[in-house]
Amino acid sequence: MSNGNLLKGKKGIIFGALDEKSIAWKVAERCYEEGAMFTLTNAPVALRMGVINQLAEKCKTQVIPADATSETDLDNLFSKSMEILGGKVDFVLHSIGMSPNVRKDKHYTALNYDFFHKTLDVSALSLHKTLQVAMKQDAINEWGSVVALSYVAAQRVFPDYNDMGDAKAMLESIARSFGYHYGVKKKVRVNTISQSPTPTTAGAGVKGFDDFIAFAHAMSPLGNASALDCANYCVALFSDLTKFVTMQNLFHDGGFSNTGFSEAAMALMK
Ligand SMILES: NC(=O)c1ccc[n+]([C@@H]2O[C@H](COP(=O)([O-])OP(=O)(O)OC[C@H]3O[C@@H](n4cnc5c(N)ncnc54)[C@H](O)[C@@H]3O)[C@@H](O)[C@H]2O)c1
Repeated sequence: MSNGNLLKGKKGIIFGALDEKSIAWKVAERCYEEGAMFTLTNAPVALRMGVINQLAEKCKTQVIPADATSETDLDNLFSKSMEILGGKVDFVLHSIGMSPNVRKDKHYTALNYDFFHKTLDVSALSLHKTLQVAMKQDAINEWGSVVALSYVAAQRVFPDYNDMGDAKAMLESIARSFGYHYGVKKKVRVNTISQSPTPTTAGAGVKGFDDFIAFAHAMSPLGNASALDCANYCVALFSDLTKFVTMQNLFHDGGFSNTGFSEAAMALMK
């Protein structure tokens, strides 16, 4: 693995590091190793656990609380980050997902619609809000890169993923639509990474996750991609080596999404 200078001189904002299993946690560690400076943020309620301060210490940075559904919080996040980092940012990681329907075990055919709105607001609209606030403040440098994390349930049905599948479909659509406008206006790129199932707090919230992660592993010619590998892909997308990649949903799943049958998965059923 490179411990070099791929992100030397770059500044960023990383959403969503809850604990050391979080994909965003690994992204922060890898960005730091590659020479980036960034602020960390999470919802005020998630910060109460306090673990994120260990990450901030390690990466010599600060944590700015922000509920990603609140434009006021996002406004403050971008202006404070530019103050701390001494200028506009070059990259943003959106690593946020939450469904009250999944948490409360509501079946997809019996959803609570207040919860559904919350799912969409937290898991999808928050990307739009982040981009809109960033554009209004002109907070992202030209050729900057915004990455949000998605899942293949945006394209195919995974019944227990519930309303998160709809939220991810919307998230990917927002990345395309905003990616167009931000590209034209400021040459900022916006992509989603569709990641393998990964054992984190959000991942483990999905019913039957342990069996499913084993099935996905068996279905993927390369096996499931880890959180660390996902972080490496994020680093590549934040770097200048991927300058013309935008408005894409990029599968990072060991080949799962294009596999219809695998002997290893069949063997699990015997
Ligand atoms: N774990 C998986 O299997 C998997 C697979 C594909 C994609 N993803 C996606 O990766 C991203 C990161 O999830 P993770 O697996 O690292 O789990 P995680 O639980 O560590 O991260 C989810 C984060 O979202 C934050 N969050 C929730 N509500 C928020 C709000 N209102 N404002 C700001 N932050 C809020 C949480 O505090 C947490 O830090 C999510 O978008 C998730 O859907 C996860």
